[in-house]
Amino acid sequence: NQLYAVVGNPISHSKSPRIHSLFASQTGEPVEYTAIQAPVDDFSGAARHFFEQGGKGLNVTVPFKEQAWTLADHRTPRAEKAGAANTLYLDKVQDLVADNTDGVGIVRDLQVNHGVSLKGLRILVLGAGGAVRGVLGPILAEQPAALTIANRTVAKAEALVRLFANDADAALLTACGFDGPDQSFDLVINGTSASLQGDLPPASAKVIGPDTVVYDMMYSLQTTTFNQWALDNGARRVYDGLGMLVEQAAESFFVWRGMRPDTAPVIEELRTD
Ligand code: ATR
Repeated sequence: NQLYAVVGNPISHSKSPRIHSLFASQTGEPVEYTAIQAPVDDFSGAARHFFEQGGKGLNVTVPFKEQAWTLADHRTPRAEKAGAANTLYLDKVQDLVADNTDGVGIVRDLQVNHGVSLKGLRILVLGAGGAVRGVLGPILAEQPAALTIANRTVAKAEALVRLFANDADAALLTACGFDGPDQSFDLVINGTSASLQGDLPPASAKVIGPDTVVYDMMYSLQTTTFNQWALDNGARRVYDGLGMLVEQAAESFFVWRGMRPDTAPVIEELRTD
C-alpha cells in the first residue's frame, strides 16, 4: 500500500482518514491513510520525515496550511492565490508541490451536490481569514454577478478585494463591515470561525430572504449555530460544510491518484456516523 496522511494539531477528530479509507475501498486504490499530529512548532520536520519515509501525499489542516504553502518548492496556481495549502506531494524530481483543493470543494458541493449554480448569483461572504481566501478564486471563476465580503475587521476584507481584483470585475467584488449589507442575497456563505467560540457573525438578518441559499463552511452533527440563525430568520435552504470536506478530499485523491471517487455515498455515510 502507498502511504498518505493528514497532518494537523490537534488531529484526533479529523474525518480525513475515514473519508480516504472509504475512497480507497470504493476505488480499489492501494491507499493507506493515517493521521499525524505534528508539534505546533515543527510542521516542516514532520512533513519532511513523512516524505523521507516514502509517504506519497499529505493533507494539511489547522494550524499548518500557511506553513505548508511556505515549505513547498512549487505551488499550483490555485494554491498560490489561496495563500495556503491543504495538499502536498512530491513531483517527478522529488520537489515538494503544494496544492489547495478547498475552493473546488465548496464549489462542487454547492453546484453538484446541492444544485446551486454560482453563475450570476449575488453572493455575500462573511469572514476574511485564511478559510475565505482559500475559496475565493474558484468561487469567482464561476462568474457570480456580485460578491461582497463582510468582515469584523474591514481592512482584511479590503485586502482580499485587492488580492482578487484581477479575478473579477471591479464593480463585482466589494468589502464592508457586518453593518454594511442590509438586503437579501442569493447565497450567504459563513466563512468566519466565530462558531468555534460559540459566536455568530453579527450580520443583519435582512441578508436572509426566503430564497437565500445559506452555506456554513463549518459542520457539526446538529444544525450549526449559523444555519439555525438563518432558519430562524426565514431561510429555507441551509447547508453545512460536510459536503465541502468530502469534496476537497476527493479532489486531493484525484491529484494524487488520477481517479475521482464517488462522493455521494461517502457524504451519506459520514452523515450517519
Ligand atoms: P480561518 O483559517 O478559520 O479563516 P482566520 O484566518 O483566523 O481563521 O480567520 C477567522 C475569521 O473569522 C476572520 O474573518 C475573523 O474576523 P477578523 O478578521 O475580524 O478577526 C472571523 N471571526 C472570528 N471570530 C469571530 C467572531 N466572534 N465574530 C465575527 N467574526 C469572527
